[in-house]
Amino acid sequence: MSSQALVLGLETSCDETAASVVLGGRTVLSNIVASQHDLHAEYGGVVPEIASRAHVERVLPTVRAAVEQSGAALEHLDAVAVGHRPGLIGSLVVGLSAAKGLAWSLGVPLIGVDHVHAHLYAGLLGREDADVYPALGLVVSGGHSTIYRVEDPISFTRLGATIDDAMGEAYDKAATILGLGHPGGPAVDRLAQEDPTAGLDIELPVSRLGKESLDFSFSGLKTALLYKVRGTPRPKRDGGGFERSEADLTAEQRRGLASAFQRAACRAVVLKLERAIEREPQKPVTLVAGGGVTANSRLRAELAAFAERHGLELVLPPMDLCVDNAAMVAGLGAAMLERGFTSGLDLPAVPSTAC
Ligand code: KG4
Ligand code: ZN
Repeated sequence: MSSQALVLGLETSCDETAASVVLGGRTVLSNIVASQHDLHAEYGGVVPEIASRAHVERVLPTVRAAVEQSGAALEHLDAVAVGHRPGLIGSLVVGLSAAKGLAWSLGVPLIGVDHVHAHLYAGLLGREDADVYPALGLVVSGGHSTIYRVEDPISFTRLGATIDDAMGEAYDKAATILGLGHPGGPAVDRLAQEDPTAGLDIELPVSRLGKESLDFSFSGLKTALLYKVRGTPRPKRDGGGFERSEADLTAEQRRGLASAFQRAACRAVVLKLERAIEREPQKPVTLVAGGGVTANSRLRAELAAFAERHGLELVLPPMDLCVDNAAMVAGLGAAMLERGFTSGLDLPAVPSTAC
């Protein structure tokens, strides 16, 4: 198989229906993302059954648009890559079935891609050189917060991960607590950016866990924010409930809390990266990061500062490739294909990540 393979990627693990055509694992010829945010907004989170149904309606038009925009034709494709894990099972099955049908009918290989690992490929898209390994890897998304040792595009060792909420999930919950919309990460980020030094007097916990731990915990931060907004919960015998609600916040208080939350969440990430890099037996040459939360303004700045302190190159995706997309799936699929990894038509949809 030539290293200039033309790969179609499909991504339907959560609430984006996405398709993309990538040439040679690096050149994005098309990148179509049909978002379902409007369908889930009124529920304050992704409703799995609504997501699956929307994927069914959107998957073929999205594939058609991606192929058309790429300037190629279906029969030019060398392989079909699909995110088959982790994610919402009903959503995964839709993309996986479409990918199997396409691969079978075109007579090309099917490649099952791990969505979390694909986030670590997003920053490589558009790059000429492949000289980024060994890398320290960070994925922070709505479903995962994980630090990896990355040996090459397809070899990962998990060094630490969240023991409760993912970082993006904590952002989304913080947005709900502060009375902002869904998805909440960008809303909290926007508010915090208005004045990054607001709320310096507000103390929120930065979880360290054990002295040696490279794991994250974001649920304590979320609960601390809840109590700052609503006050301490009343005991059950006094009727339960809270003293206040987010509607009682002034604009200044809301901004201060968003900034304080953003500072604490980013601090927690950098703290664990500092621990991780100290222990790496072989010094990484880059920090490769990806996932929706790497679109966060403060995190991007803090990761840049961390990389500079340690003499690493920072490999960060552009904003549109931080969040879920199929270009990263096609790209990682091409890297797998080049190394001889393809899947059978019995490839299952799996809710959890491989590592
Ligand atoms: O990678 P992604 O699109 O989906 C998953 O694989 O989970 O990440 C989505 C998550 C959401 O929780 C969203 O709120 C968060 O990324 N996010 C952000 C920002 N943009 C997206 N969080 C903080 N700041 C942002 N600017
Ligand atoms: Zn994702």
